Amino acid sequence: MKKVTIKSILKKKNQQPIVCITAYSAAVARIVDKYCDIILVGDSVGMTLYGMKSTRKVSLETMIQHAKAVKSYTKKCFVVFDMPYKTYTSKFVAYNNAKKVMKITRCDAIKLEGGRKINSIVKYLVKKKIPVMGHVGLLPQTSKNFKVKGKNEFQKVEILNDAKAISSSGAFAVIIECVVESLAKKITKAIPIPTIGIGASKHCDGQILVVDDILGLSDYYPKFVKRYTNLKKIIEKSIKEYANDVKLKKFPFTRNVYK
Ligand code: KIV
Repeated sequence: MKKVTIKSILKKKNQQPIVCITAYSAAVARIVDKYCDIILVGDSVGMTLYGMKSTRKVSLETMIQHAKAVKSYTKKCFVVFDMPYKTYTSKFVAYNNAKKVMKITRCDAIKLEGGRKINSIVKYLVKKKIPVMGHVGLLPQTSKNFKVKGKNEFQKVEILNDAKAISSSGAFAVIIECVVESLAKKITKAIPIPTIGIGASKHCDGQILVVDDILGLSDYYPKFVKRYTNLKKIIEKSIKEYANDVKLKKFPFTRNVYK
């Protein structure tokens, strides 16, 4: 099992699709590590595990705990730490927080949401040897609505320029979230770094999804999600059986008892 590196990720552009997924726990990281290239410890953890309405209330400390768990059970994947809302308001704030994150979690890179507005922050972090993944298109930390982006010419130009800015600032890859197919295709052709799509068509160099979404654990599924299983149903069936067994005094069974 060869460790995924920035070099091996860059090599895949226009060659081989890059497989990415989020993970927040040791148990899931251990499984994901066998099949994916990149794990994102996403701030989506706020919604998936903590029942928050948005990602904005997720703290750096919470993210650090999840990243430590993921990283300690990952051997092969490249692990990216998603910097939470308001933790990169200036280049100095970003650097102080990112330095702490990298030291404590041993993650391989950090991710920041935004385009031209965070250009100088990305440049500064890269200069300070902190690898950065970008995130353009729909930006969950700051978007006013969760509608698909790039439907009109103005948005198309804005998002393309954001992706170009992030790329030329030194990011090694960029996530493109929820944009029309033609724009994702254009961005992927226009920049030299890999694009990772979430709701951004197969024209991206790789794909990412939220793990709880593909496992059927979420309450809401955007059009771009494929549910590969329905864990909610499976868990419910098991808990129901367990509750019945306890109530009927069937559990513990003989094999579960110490003699
Ligand atoms: O936090 C997250 O899970 C993300 C993905 C949606 C890309 O940023």
